[in-house]
Amino acid sequence: MSETSRDTSRDTSRETFRERAAKLDAADPLAPQRELFALDDGVYLDGNSLGALPLHVPARVQDVLTRQWGELRIRSWGESGWWTAPERIGDRIAPLVGAAAGQIVVGDSTSVNVFKAVVAATRLASLAGEGRDEILVDATTFPTDGYIAASAARLTGHRIVPVDPADVTGALGPRTAAVLLNQVDFRTGRLHDLPALTAAVHAAGAIAVWDLCHSAGALPVGLDEHGVDLAVGCTYKYLNGGPGSPAYLYVAERHQAAFDSPLPGWNSHADPFGMTPDYAPADGSVRGRVGTPDIVSMLTLEAALDVWDGVSVDAVRAKSLALTDFFLECVEAYVPQGRVVSVTPVAHAERGSQVALRCAEAEPVMRRLIERGVVGDLRRPDVLRFGFTPLYVGFADAERAARVLAEVLDEVPAG
Ligand SMILES: Cc1ncc(COP(=O)(O)O)c(C=O)c1O
Repeated sequence: MSETSRDTSRDTSRETFRERAAKLDAADPLAPQRELFALDDGVYLDGNSLGALPLHVPARVQDVLTRQWGELRIRSWGESGWWTAPERIGDRIAPLVGAAAGQIVVGDSTSVNVFKAVVAATRLASLAGEGRDEILVDATTFPTDGYIAASAARLTGHRIVPVDPADVTGALGPRTAAVLLNQVDFRTGRLHDLPALTAAVHAAGAIAVWDLCHSAGALPVGLDEHGVDLAVGCTYKYLNGGPGSPAYLYVAERHQAAFDSPLPGWNSHADPFGMTPDYAPADGSVRGRVGTPDIVSMLTLEAALDVWDGVSVDAVRAKSLALTDFFLECVEAYVPQGRVVSVTPVAHAERGSQVALRCAEAEPVMRRLIERGVVGDLRRPDVLRFGFTPLYVGFADAERAARVLAEVLDEVPAG
């Protein structure tokens, strides 16, 4: 094929994809949500790392600072609802992850909540009998979960068993106390089977702890429906809570009375202002609190959650799959053969809301993509990550990202 005829066929296919993107965007029921966010004319595909700012949030935070803090000062703990913010905002997140009210508390980082959940899980497991001395941990996990679980294991006298999520069932046994898994793998975007794995963990008599960082706000989780025991997640990705916004902890109602936090701070006391030397845990999700909440960050998150009003997570999931399907199709059509290999599963049942492409020249490629306004990120050494946040990413964005990727790959010589 001559250069000229190859270019012509490429142009034709690009035109077709652009037309399809325009039709898909026009028919997208979530398209109006994009207007709620502060975005520029680039393509933002890093919402799986840091969600975009909802436009109404700065004014709400301004009110928190100037009126609630500046004018009401200490009165705001009661009058502005500061004291009850962790459980109130937990109840806002609950429907997004399929949990009834009263089981989620917001606060601390995901890392800290992993610690609370893993230690508490081993304590719950020990109530059922002796001899459970193993904690199974996703071998491909985001590193913090592994580091924290290892420390929790040392503290509680357990042994860590690293296990690929695909092999969890075979690794479970009478010695398993707890299993810590990610619903969506941060590197590949692979979605693990939360219902089946939770059922397998329960069949082995163990406690299932799920990290929802890459799934909450991107797909239906169904915590209550699938009988998850404990879960944690961050709020700065698909929930758009802002940089460093607080994480959350889910404790299923059936475990709350026995939930024994390894960080029983005064905020989790049944009578925190009794200031007694003896600890008596509060009932319900409050038991997962530790110390004074980070109010400014927390109320920023609370305001940001307004963008979910009237939005169904099923609609978000449908768009997420359509977007990632379309992006993969555009990449296949535009990108020269062999330059990138998708490590994200094709099967919908195994895909989260990001596409990860292995590329030998990932570092210079991502640098150039960002220079041209297509913002994804890089997981060293060779993974290009593109996160698709259905609330503000459209099909034209997906087409443009693939097109710019192909252009950049034309410029960066294959190593
Ligand atoms: C799966 C997963 N778990 C945990 C974390 C870290 O959470 P934090 O920094 O809030 O402790 C991240 C951060 O991106 C993550 O992707």
